[in-house]
Amino acid sequence: MLIDYRTDSGTLPTEEMRRAMSEAKLGDDYYGEDPSVNLLEKTASEMLGKEAAILTTTATLGNQLALLSLSHKGSEIWVEKFSHIAAHDYTAFLLPDRKFRVYEAIKGREIADDDLAEAGEGAHSVFCIENTHNRHGGTILPISEMKRVYRQIRQAGGYVHLDGSRLFNASVASGVPLNEFAACADTVVLCLCKGLCAPAGAILAGSRETIRRARKWRTKMGSAMPQAGVIAAPAYIGLKKMIPRLAQDHLLAQKLASGLAVLTGLSVDLSLVETNIVLVHPKHPLKTAEQIQNELRQAGILVLLLDSKTIRFVVDRNIHPEDIPATVGIMQSIL
Ligand SMILES: Cc1ncc(COP(=O)(O)O)c(C=O)c1O
Repeated sequence: MLIDYRTDSGTLPTEEMRRAMSEAKLGDDYYGEDPSVNLLEKTASEMLGKEAAILTTTATLGNQLALLSLSHKGSEIWVEKFSHIAAHDYTAFLLPDRKFRVYEAIKGREIADDDLAEAGEGAHSVFCIENTHNRHGGTILPISEMKRVYRQIRQAGGYVHLDGSRLFNASVASGVPLNEFAACADTVVLCLCKGLCAPAGAILAGSRETIRRARKWRTKMGSAMPQAGVIAAPAYIGLKKMIPRLAQDHLLAQKLASGLAVLTGLSVDLSLVETNIVLVHPKHPLKTAEQIQNELRQAGILVLLLDSKTIRFVVDRNIHPEDIPATVGIMQSIL
């Protein structure tokens, strides 16, 4: 038995996606001639209500291209303290002539007035938001908050970039359509290989001019792929067919969280479990989070440590209903 909660990027493509890869119509995307890429980019831009979109190898690259394309020398780039852009990307190294500023979104759901006001005061700014927020536990930045951020930053002449790697989860869980979220940002990144199960790829969407610039940067950064249709074709199926199934991941995440929350020796904030991520904080007198992670591994359950006190479980298509009671039972015996 192996139950793998480490990341939703590990989801394998469906049979239909595998067929689509082998049958994809291909061309040279460098010249805009790959029909599968063109279809994917057009579909994604329409779903988000943006003028244009570009396929990128990863969401990390999508974020980097957005910031390269929206900012210029002297711009301030505002990043959330625990966001993927701040914690994992090397964008600050790529852009030494931009000034990086850090703010903190309370539980990933709320942005302080003072931060927005300050972001509007200085030089031209790009304000980055993440929805859902990974390290805060898959929490949703509510549409009302996104509208407030966008209004204030735009009024001050800045741009908003949305790392929506898991925006599909936010949309399914909240009932807010993707394009309503996307209307609150100048650029949006979507990851196609997480809950949607495509084998690779992400989308960056925005204005025609921003995406034209991003296309140039993508080539300069060595990530233009001639017949990228082999990636675009399964991703297209992800966009068309896999979004509604995320509700099942959310349901199982809820069940997992409530099963773990009643165990002695763990703390789980159920109010944070809105989508497919469950954060667990061990409170065991003798065992650290790392020891618990190791014992889970020996029992066939893989999880990730976010820090020395936090274990992350991510639910995706790899996780089946019967895995939930099995996981809770094993955790109970470890504790
Ligand atoms: C919020 C967020 N943004 C970006 C990324 C990076 O995605 P990728 O692995 O496609 O670069 C991740 C990966 O988990 C993520 O959680």
